Amino acid sequence: MDLFAKRVGLIDTENAFKIGPLIRAVEEQGKEVIKCNLGEPDFPVPEFIKEEVKGQLDRDNTHYCDPQGIPSLRAAVAKQLAETRGIRATPDRVVVFPGAKPPIGLCQQTYCDPGDEIIYPSPGFPIYESFINYVGARPVPLHLSEERNFSFSGVDIGPLITQKTKMIILNFPSNPTGGVASAEQLRDLADVIQRRCSPDIRVFSDEVYEQIIFDDNEHHSISSCPGMEEITILVSGASKSFSWTGGRIGWALFPTVEEAEVFRNLNINYFSCIPPYNQEGARIALESPLSQDAIRKMVTIFQERREIVVDGLNAIEGILCQKPKGAFYAFPNISEVCGNLGIFDAFRSLPPNIRGKTSPSTLFQMFLLFEHQVATMDRKSFGRIGAENFHYLRLSFATDTESLREGLRRISRACGDREGFRRFFHRGERLY
Ligand SMILES: Cc1ncc(COP(=O)(O)O)c(C=O)c1O
Repeated sequence: MDLFAKRVGLIDTENAFKIGPLIRAVEEQGKEVIKCNLGEPDFPVPEFIKEEVKGQLDRDNTHYCDPQGIPSLRAAVAKQLAETRGIRATPDRVVVFPGAKPPIGLCQQTYCDPGDEIIYPSPGFPIYESFINYVGARPVPLHLSEERNFSFSGVDIGPLITQKTKMIILNFPSNPTGGVASAEQLRDLADVIQRRCSPDIRVFSDEVYEQIIFDDNEHHSISSCPGMEEITILVSGASKSFSWTGGRIGWALFPTVEEAEVFRNLNINYFSCIPPYNQEGARIALESPLSQDAIRKMVTIFQERREIVVDGLNAIEGILCQKPKGAFYAFPNISEVCGNLGIFDAFRSLPPNIRGKTSPSTLFQMFLLFEHQVATMDRKSFGRIGAENFHYLRLSFATDTESLREGLRRISRACGDREGFRRFFHRGERLY
């Protein structure tokens, strides 16, 4: 008898959390690391939200509450979704979760049987792929192309749809690429999905970066397209919009009350309820006129940093970086750097058991961290299937401007440090 059930070996992880001990290992050598790995806004929670939470604690709002989410927050979510998406959202179809992450796995468990197919963007948030094997579904990655600005439409998804397609995951604005979809693209996607899929399919639309949009781009949701509200689970939360990742408040709007009730019961089984004082904080965040100003200030700073990071990366020989339209990540193509530093040759020379655990962009990521002290994320951290053929890094610009400038200087030095890479690789200590 084994200690762990077999399914334990099937779940993957989110490397953004896993990389912490590696960073500490470098810091313990007395070296300061520039952290471009973080997936959370580096701003404090807006003051008026903090005040609300403190007031709730002082009023002892610290007990169990409605497992589906407090009615006032569900009402605020439904109102915000109805106003911004032009849909008929109602509070009885809203479920509150501890963050926008839990609905990912819970929805796969709820809607997908073994053998059902799940289409998801790759590169994409790693938890989508992580759960697919765990629930026994079949992963169908939709590989996004840089030439199409990491966005996609009906022609891209059409060939992946089969009779077994049960769920299609969308994420605009996207982690890690910053891609957004236009209303036209979403209408086109909706058209293909409605023509080709059964009404029992579910579209999982992860819109957690809905407020972090640059230039004159706008956020659009597939749920706004005619007929899509009926098959879409719309997910968002307070983590990114209100710089409140530690508050653990997310929500989902389900197509029907019946479905929301299934998730209410899952909440009872897993969490009992979500902290009511933080739910009140999220409610005020959605209702207060002060929010738009707080979000605008944060997005303005992200946009200034985006210019610095994208221009800085493009100035480095061998790096090509598109301008993300939303979220707070740059996703540069590092193919040429991998060639210049001899990383492709090094990768090919590895024995199969090690090669299987790493990739060219992983080798560069590790070299950057251990030899030049910049923490980034490799391509493989955003969907493993087929990842070794794509050579990108994700850099978060949720870090202060001075650190970002220093990070760029270090990356530039690393890109010219062929000899340094050779030594690093031959030591063979940190190859994955
Ligand atoms: C695309 C995407 N979805 C969901 C989440 C999870 O958000 P939360 O912290 O609210 O659980 C993240 C966090 O990085 C994300 O990037």
